[in-house]
Amino acid sequence: MSISLSPARIFEWLREEDARRLNLLWTEADDVRRRQVGDEVHLRGLIEISNHCVRRCAYCGINIGNGDLPRYRMDAAEIIGCAREAVSLGYGTVVLQSGEDYGLSRNFVSEVVRAIKSETGLAVTLSLGERPEEDLGEWRAAGADRYLLRFETSDEELYSRVHPPVAKGAPNRLALLEELKKLGYETGSGVMVGLPGQTYDCLAKDIELFRQLDLDMVGVGPFISHPTTMLGRDPVANGPDNVSATELMTLKVVALSRLVCPEANIPATTALSTVDRRKGYEMALQRGANVVMPNITPAKYRSLYDIYPGKAHADEDPEDAALSIRSRIEALGRSVGTGPGARRRAFL
Ligand code: 5AD
Repeated sequence: MSISLSPARIFEWLREEDARRLNLLWTEADDVRRRQVGDEVHLRGLIEISNHCVRRCAYCGINIGNGDLPRYRMDAAEIIGCAREAVSLGYGTVVLQSGEDYGLSRNFVSEVVRAIKSETGLAVTLSLGERPEEDLGEWRAAGADRYLLRFETSDEELYSRVHPPVAKGAPNRLALLEELKKLGYETGSGVMVGLPGQTYDCLAKDIELFRQLDLDMVGVGPFISHPTTMLGRDPVANGPDNVSATELMTLKVVALSRLVCPEANIPATTALSTVDRRKGYEMALQRGANVVMPNITPAKYRSLYDIYPGKAHADEDPEDAALSIRSRIEALGRSVGTGPGARRRAFL
């Protein structure tokens, strides 16, 4: 059950600048988080399995147009090795993320998922872009539990401006999200906050769409300009109706996401931690978030998964990162979740 929050009210919260009134939003989001998903913070080990990508997204540093970026693709043994490491670090889930890379064949991913599931029992989340339904179906049958696919913006005009078209008749992301739900995946989506051209009205509609989709996971982070992308080379000036890519704005979206999707798993994202290394995680965890996704990609690939510059934690060793995030969570009076940390459903 979501808290009644009209689209007009969402819009008003996004425009709210009074710190005292915003405290009401923070408190409400934190209360709902505690009542609905409790005090546990679930850790998901993120493995960036390939930086090849066939897409040309205007914001993303690994888009196909970035010819200077050396490309890598992990092999099955490396990925499974990282999953073992996730187990030893006490994580209950691994997230396999990549660019949209058809070099990761349907069969390859199925085999890797099967191996991780049978050997470790970890929950497996995939975040591999807009793949054909046949791929998504086979991966689900192989045991994948969850799929992340941010819709980035619900505004069609803005969406098409930053996502140059692929083949005609390619499925749109919203149709794919419905397909993922039908296949029985726990389904996650989200947006970037402050994507150039994004208005308050667009962003309010995005949040309303989180509710309509009844998302199991909602990930939001600030847009971070990347110099080798179209948006980085050709910056768009912000007008008064445009959202800026700030920590505060991102935190409002985290809090509102908790209110519209009370049972969802909501990460304190790496992008947020990038704009506020010292306390970005804490701020989000105290305003609706209940998940952190520490990076466990092998060190030699880290700098190549260059979706935006200056990524936080990129040079942290997985063991140090695990210790550090545990102590940060405990310092908030929260506990580290055990097990897969699936989406809670109150009425099942
Ligand atoms: N700034 C912030 N987030 C970005 N992403 C991609 N490029 C950027 C950027 N420049 C986000 C997208 C994508 C997720 C994996 O990373 O929202 O869905």
